[in-house]
Amino acid sequence: MNEEDKMRVAVYPGSFDPITNGHEDVIRRAASVFDELIVAVLINPDKKGLFTIEERVELIKKVVAPYKNVTVESFSGLLTTFMKERNSKVIIKGLRAVSDFEYEFQMALMNNKLDSSIETLFMMTSAQYSYLSSSSVKQVASFGGCIKGLVPDVIIDDVISKIRAK
Ligand code: PNS
Repeated sequence: MNEEDKMRVAVYPGSFDPITNGHEDVIRRAASVFDELIVAVLINPDKKGLFTIEERVELIKKVVAPYKNVTVESFSGLLTTFMKERNSKVIIKGLRAVSDFEYEFQMALMNNKLDSSIETLFMMTSAQYSYLSSSSVKQVASFGGCIKGLVPDVIIDDVISKIRAK
C-alpha cells in the first residue's frame, strides 16, 4: 500500500438498531474526510435486536443513498478481520459523552492489540445529538412519543411500524 492509499477506506462499525440522526451525522462527516466509508453492522447472535440485521442494513442504505462514497455491509466475528478483508486501517467511532469513553477506549486498545496497524479515530458527536441513542429512540417510539428529529425522516415510518408490529 502506498502512502496516499493509507487513509482511504474507513469503517464505521456498530449495532445500528436502528440508525439515528447521531449516526447519520458521524457518517456524513466521516464520508467528507475519507475517500470511502463502509458502515458495518455487527451480526451478534447473542443479542436480539428490534430489527434483523438485513432490516438494519436496508434502513442504513436508505439513509446513506445521497452519499456516493458510503456503502453498507454486515459482518460477524472480529472487526479487525473484516477490516483486513476490506483493506481498511481506520475505525471511526462516535463519542457522545465522557461516559462512552471507557468502553470505547477498551475496544480501541483491544482492536489495536489484535492488529497494530489499525487505528481508531473518534469523532465527537454534534452537541444536538449528544443525548441520542438507538435504545432511547426505541423507548420513545414504544410509548408513542414523537421520533422526528431523532432518526432520519426516511426511516421514521419503518421504525413506527416495526414497534407497532411487536
Ligand atoms: O454500536 P455498538 O454496539 O457500540 O458497536 C459495537 C461494535 C460492533 C463496534 C463492537 O461490538 C465490535 O466491533 N464487535 C465485533 C467483535 C470484535 O471485534 N471484538 C473485539 C474488540 S472488543
